Amino acid sequence: MDYQNNIKRIEEYVSSKLSVVDAGHDMSHINRVVINAKVIQQQEGGRLFVVVAGALLHDILDEKLFDPTEAEFELRDFLKSIYISLDEINLLVSLIKCISYGSEFDNNKDDLFLEAKIVSDADKLDAMGAIGIARTFHFGGYKNRKIYDIDVSPVRYSSTKEYRKSAAPTINHFYEKLLLLKDKMKTKTGKLLAEQRHLFMEKYLKQFFEEIQENPFDNFL
Ligand code: ADP
Ligand code: NI
Repeated sequence: MDYQNNIKRIEEYVSSKLSVVDAGHDMSHINRVVINAKVIQQQEGGRLFVVVAGALLHDILDEKLFDPTEAEFELRDFLKSIYISLDEINLLVSLIKCISYGSEFDNNKDDLFLEAKIVSDADKLDAMGAIGIARTFHFGGYKNRKIYDIDVSPVRYSSTKEYRKSAAPTINHFYEKLLLLKDKMKTKTGKLLAEQRHLFMEKYLKQFFEEIQENPFDNFL
């Protein structure tokens, strides 16, 4: 198998599919997830091709962005066309399907295989820290949401459906998702990297509430 060539073809495929979706899920997100995944793989091991291809493809079956049945059909066709084996195609598809955060409300994800754990951690890291903060306010602006509203408390979601329906102010998202991510990391290296980004978000929130002279969610976590 020609690793470099296959990775390049997969990159081109993902880039053509994601060019039509929002900037929170553009190629720069994918590239950062690939970088994070490689850093984690260097420490944790795992098959490099599965890690990198999985990171490149991780949003390609996302139900928020695509029709998942159609997207899976197309993806399998594409991977076959570049001579990826059926076993490896099945592995990649199962990796992509099991790493979305949303689906974690509904499934128990502790039994993932190593490469899936790595890509899952790499994706979560990109939702944290300075880049995570930027993506979150970008998303809130795109949806025309309020930055904050001290009268709307964060919610603990128990299902994906409920989580997706929320139109809460953007600052609530930190309490509803971002600050919970560090405890969902699945590899030792991922946990370590998440710790730094988590501390940075806490520092950011502390300053945020100091500036507005309110701290309504202090006791939420
Ligand atoms: P997932 O698929 O992991 O549930 P999304 O793909 O919906 O997450 O979110 C991608 C990024 O968009 C998040 O990391 C976050 O920065 C931002 N985002 C998602 N939902 C919200 C929200 N309700 N408020 C603000 N930002 C959000
Ligand atoms: Ni992603």
